Amino acid sequence: MNRTLVIVKPDAVERGLVGDILGRLERKGLRLVAVQLRLLDAQTARRHYAEHVGREYFDALVTFITRSPVVVVVVEGPDDTWRLVRQLMGDKNPADASPGTIRGDLASRMAENLIHGSDSSDAARREIEIFFPELA
Ligand code: PPS
Repeated sequence: MNRTLVIVKPDAVERGLVGDILGRLERKGLRLVAVQLRLLDAQTARRHYAEHVGREYFDALVTFITRSPVVVVVVEGPDDTWRLVRQLMGDKNPADASPGTIRGDLASRMAENLIHGSDSSDAARREIEIFFPELA
């Protein structure tokens, strides 16, 4: 089996969308291996988003992801599960996300786009290690 990391972001938790979002992953046939509600500190957020250091939106991204609790999830499924999850998520810009996707159905602004999913197998491995070292 193959694993990837999902973060249900603060906007989704604040709006009470955790059940809807995790339900979509489960209905797709993916299995939740670890689920943890936690408030991220800035150091962990910066480590997670390290590849985006220097982007003009980097500080805003860290402020956003640390503003209230997130739900960090390890999802398991077939090969390249990260791709299945990214399909369910939809485009990072909700204006470009297709109806039927999480962002297409439930989000309206890029800065509050509800969910993060690893964008490659290598990223999945790196991100699982950050949040669930015992599973790495
Ligand atoms: S890029 O440029 O394609 O490499 O960026 P990407 O990997 O798609 O996005 C990196 C994360 O930043 C979020 N993002 C933004 N947030 C706020 N404002 C703007 N303009 C913006 N652009 C990208 C994007 O949702 C990614 O966060 P995660 O948590 O991975 O979804």
